[in-house]
Amino acid sequence: MKSTLQSLFSSMDILLLERIAEGRFRVLAPPPTWTGKLTQTGFKVGSEVSLSEDFFVLDTFFPDAEDLWNSSKEGTINCDPWIQCDEEGQEWPLAARAIHSNGKPLLLLEHLGESYTRQQQMHQLARESMLSKDELELEVHRRTALIRKGEEELAHRLLDVSNWRDEETGAHIRRIGLYSELMAKALGWSLQDVDNIRLAAPMHDIGKVGIPDYVLLKPGRLDAEERRIMERHAYIGGEMLKGSEIPMIEMAHQIAIGHHEKWNGKGYPNQLSGSDIPIAARIVAIVDVYDALSSERVYKPAWPEDEVLAYLRKERGSHFDPELIDLFFELLPEMRNIRLLLPDKKG
Ligand SMILES: [Fe+2]
Ligand SMILES: [Fe+2]
Repeated sequence: MKSTLQSLFSSMDILLLERIAEGRFRVLAPPPTWTGKLTQTGFKVGSEVSLSEDFFVLDTFFPDAEDLWNSSKEGTINCDPWIQCDEEGQEWPLAARAIHSNGKPLLLLEHLGESYTRQQQMHQLARESMLSKDELELEVHRRTALIRKGEEELAHRLLDVSNWRDEETGAHIRRIGLYSELMAKALGWSLQDVDNIRLAAPMHDIGKVGIPDYVLLKPGRLDAEERRIMERHAYIGGEMLKGSEIPMIEMAHQIAIGHHEKWNGKGYPNQLSGSDIPIAARIVAIVDVYDALSSERVYKPAWPEDEVLAYLRKERGSHFDPELIDLFFELLPEMRNIRLLLPDKKG
């Protein structure tokens, strides 16, 4: 019976040992062949061995094992699997188990076999593919940020071109972006669209680059013909920005061509009305008038705030989208803050 048990351990690739003193063991069963590969001396049944030299990983396990073997408790504790290399570089996955059974302190060293190696390889592969997924995501983020940076730079450069000649200040242009962003956020737009309108709204008057100086730079009021020429800036801006597959530029197109349309259909250039006017353009229509009236221009002084607000209220539902006007008034304290933070430079 005993020899049957011993040969069973051997056939299971398990080295069965009895602890005889601290760090000393006796081989109880015929050692499996792998012990010959991994030990200096080779093991025989009945021989006394010290395992520390050949299986140094066990040094970290032995203190716990000794506690078990020296206690009155029966039980088992396991050592985490490890990989050991033989002299030819072959890898042997091993596990150890300390047992205290019927007063006998036993140690089992087990070769975990190929299935374990394969399992570990699968885990490793899974880890690597997870890693590369993470890396891929990072790369996508990095490239998206880069494209975004390109779009922002393009937007700023386009604005520089229009600012070159326009009477409107850089601060006005930036405020329009921030007011629009505030409205879009309050409307619950996606982060991407909120960001888009912040960049796109400042381009509303970009078509003014196509307006001749004698009209664009004229101090004082324009006559009817000059007005007609000036109004072409919406159409020109629309033409400049149309046909883009970049959502931010497409939004800028809608704003450029649509920011002088009126809710009642009496605006220009296409006399669109109501929700036929893209919402981004309806937002910019409000904040552009609010900011232009509140600011000094070469042809007019700044209006007092109460007059500006009275005008916006009067135009609710005629010039401006009524719901968006209501939203604008809800956000008025924050709109004022934007004006305070980004004032026009005098002189
Ligand atoms: Fe305009
Ligand atoms: Fe403007």
